[in-house]
Amino acid sequence: MHAKQPGTNSAEVILRQVVDEDLPIFFEHQLDEQANWMAAFTWKDPGNRQVFEERWSRIRADEGILIRTILVEDRVAGSVLSFDLFGELSVSYWLGRDFWGRGIATSALMALIIIQDKRPLYARAASDNFGSLRVLEKCGFKVMGKEMGYANARGYEIEEFILKLETQEGSSGEVDTAN
Ligand SMILES: CC(C)(COP(=O)(O)OP(=O)(O)OC[C@H]1O[C@@H](n2cnc3c(N)ncnc32)[C@H](O)[C@@H]1OP(=O)(O)O)[C@@H](O)C(=O)NCCC(=O)NCCS
Repeated sequence: MHAKQPGTNSAEVILRQVVDEDLPIFFEHQLDEQANWMAAFTWKDPGNRQVFEERWSRIRADEGILIRTILVEDRVAGSVLSFDLFGELSVSYWLGRDFWGRGIATSALMALIIIQDKRPLYARAASDNFGSLRVLEKCGFKVMGKEMGYANARGYEIEEFILKLETQEGSSGEVDTAN
């Protein structure tokens, strides 16, 4: 699956199945303190390699989770997935810092929501995670509510927006589904 935002200089993004060699890179991404702060609702123990490996084994074995590695210029940029969260089919994504600010998360999510064609889809983001909220908005998600929740990466409760994608309307990128 290839994707690129039309009429922009954004990078070309390829989604492919996760392979074992991606995991050390995802672990490095997960160690990034700034990324953890942004995402806020993170795992409790981002530095624990064993817990990370066990969690990824479960994720990859779970048929209800659709997860893809995001490739840019043959490099692993991050991951994007849909999964069940509180009984709602939800999406999330995480990029290595080197890849921020190039439209990659937007293209990757646009590609994922074509592969994952069930609706509605949901997403949650800290109310101050402006990058993530903008990615979701560009993909057609709309804020439908907010909640307070304990943010592991902050150590206290913060506000979280809940967003919903009702239709296929967000899927407007240039996407080659042959891959
Ligand atoms: C949030 C994240 C996915 C954004 O990825 P990205 O590839 O840099 O996002 P894009 O380049 O597609 O940006 C999309 C839009 O968000 C804006 N944006 C990106 N990061 C931003 C930031 N930190 N602050 C404000 N706006 C931001 C961009 O300017 C762009 O808007 P525009 O098209 O109107 O100019 C990335 O920073 C990340 O992985 N962060 C850590 C993990 C995380 O927060 N995951 C989401 C959990 S809910």
